[in-house]
Amino acid sequence: MCGIVGYIGDEDIKEVLVDGLRELEYRGYDSAGIAVLQDNEIQSFKAVGKLKNLEEKTKNFNPHAFGMGIGHTRWATHGKPTEINAHPHLGEFSYVVHNGIIENYQELKKELQAEGVRFLSQTDTEVIVHLFEKSYKALNDPMQAFEATVNKLEGAYAVLLMTKVDPDRIYFAKNGSPMIVGNNDKNDIFFGSSDAALIGKATEVIYLDDGDYGYTSAKEGITLLHNGKEKTLNKKALLGDKISAQKGGFRFFMEKEIYEQSEVLVDTVMGRALDTKIQFEELDPNFFDGIDGITICACGTSYNSGLACAYLFERQAKIRTNVEIASEFRYKEPLLDPKTLFVVISQSGETADTLEALKMARDAGLKTLAICNVDNSSIVRISDYTLLTRAGIEKGVASTKAFATQVMVMWMLSLYIAQHKKTMSEEEISAEIQAIRHIPQAVKVNDKLHEKVKRLSKRYLHGHGFFFIGRDLFYPLALEGALKLKEISYLHAEGYPAGEMKHGPIALADSELFTIALMPKNIHYDKVKSNVEELSARDATILAISPERFELADDYVHTYCSDHAMSEFFEMMVVTQLLALEISVRLGNDVDMPRNLAKSVTVE
Ligand code: AGP
Repeated sequence: MCGIVGYIGDEDIKEVLVDGLRELEYRGYDSAGIAVLQDNEIQSFKAVGKLKNLEEKTKNFNPHAFGMGIGHTRWATHGKPTEINAHPHLGEFSYVVHNGIIENYQELKKELQAEGVRFLSQTDTEVIVHLFEKSYKALNDPMQAFEATVNKLEGAYAVLLMTKVDPDRIYFAKNGSPMIVGNNDKNDIFFGSSDAALIGKATEVIYLDDGDYGYTSAKEGITLLHNGKEKTLNKKALLGDKISAQKGGFRFFMEKEIYEQSEVLVDTVMGRALDTKIQFEELDPNFFDGIDGITICACGTSYNSGLACAYLFERQAKIRTNVEIASEFRYKEPLLDPKTLFVVISQSGETADTLEALKMARDAGLKTLAICNVDNSSIVRISDYTLLTRAGIEKGVASTKAFATQVMVMWMLSLYIAQHKKTMSEEEISAEIQAIRHIPQAVKVNDKLHEKVKRLSKRYLHGHGFFFIGRDLFYPLALEGALKLKEISYLHAEGYPAGEMKHGPIALADSELFTIALMPKNIHYDKVKSNVEELSARDATILAISPERFELADDYVHTYCSDHAMSEFFEMMVVTQLLALEISVRLGNDVDMPRNLAKSVTVE
């Protein structure tokens, strides 16, 4: 998805902008560009494809003096990924970068075209720069012109604008798309659409709210407005270090993130899984009063984690739970009951469909809870309550540690509700906590396992498809295993309930159909076994993942945890993640930035 950076100061502007864009690469993009304003001259460069193409184009451009600049990585929505459609977009004397979608751009564009304005690109963004220039010509005041422009925009946007008629300022506006502004001790000013772009540069930051706009300059600092009135700057220290956001010796961010799961899960449970009870300081003691059901809503991997945990909510907390795909939920005219707790799950906290579903639930008067990895994200800011997953920055587009930490938080939440509703005894809760504390061990990747999966992967590069199958909690894990594989291998993979295969998909079974069978000891082992036997009888190629050796399997990955269904779940999760990773590596794909995908899907 698109990324924005901006800078005012006397460092090498090009370096600062490109470096910031590099930190946003993980969000996915297909073109990039920068514009630099110095001595009343604006220079702009754009390139299709990866940032190295932009670096090549700017190699002879060395803006070593005070100035300002804006930059952008674009993920095409309106118009193809071409240089013309890449940002910054220019008018006669101004440049703009934008994230989000201007929903009324067509009518604005028609009006401007009728007045003789010529558009170069197919983007929605270009209307912003022309609207600004039109307003400036009428009002002769850049701030008023910017305000008038923003007032005309409908939809989601984070915008930065530079103009030669006011060469000391960068104008900014935010509505629905994330934007952060910060400064360092020298009072250099930085903008970013995510704090990843500001780490190591800004020391304090302001997370802008929807409807915020304003301007910054070296002399005036940051001027923030909302509804025409000046707003106090709510600055926060920017924590986090750049090194932890780098690959740390691994070949890929995804690989590093798989290995990191053990550590981050320790953080996830810290201070929450006490000896005999679950504690969430983020929740009021009366948080669950009046609630008689849960609706979980999310997309992609986050949806899969919700689906898995619905089994726990019903089984442990004895609370009716349903799970919804956010993009479907938004338009199905759902019946919303204020006695239902509305739980949204999101790694990024910016997924447009999840965010909109959350707003619907909030507007209908439901209590809302976000399970999220990014503090201060849009989803966190509008939820009544938040449980942060504490996974740290996840850069691989294919989510791994975010999934693990989401499941962990919800497992603890189901026990927390069970405590409140007294659906489990103290002994039962303590036993679950023991199991929780064992999970960091269960997800540790040992060399033997990784080597085994690496070797196995070479046998799974062809065929006409994969079925990941499992029952109960292991069905959502099968869905997640298949999603991982298809995202980074581009091979067709489906997750299926093991018992459902004979109702259709078994027709596909032959030696070229690869079945990844999740066969935990603690949940319906015999039933899954007989489902796998049915596939084996039809000559499907079987890779069994189980603590029990399964004679009919073509390949077998031995898992070791058999004390608790959840330890089996987490251990098998790691096997499926490694399998997807190693198949992708063998196929020569871009593991961290798979084609057509974006880390944070901020458009519907
Ligand atoms: C995960 O591997 C995916 N890339 C994707 O399905 C993701 O989980 C989905 O877009 C939801 O994102 P979120 O968790 O940031 O809301």
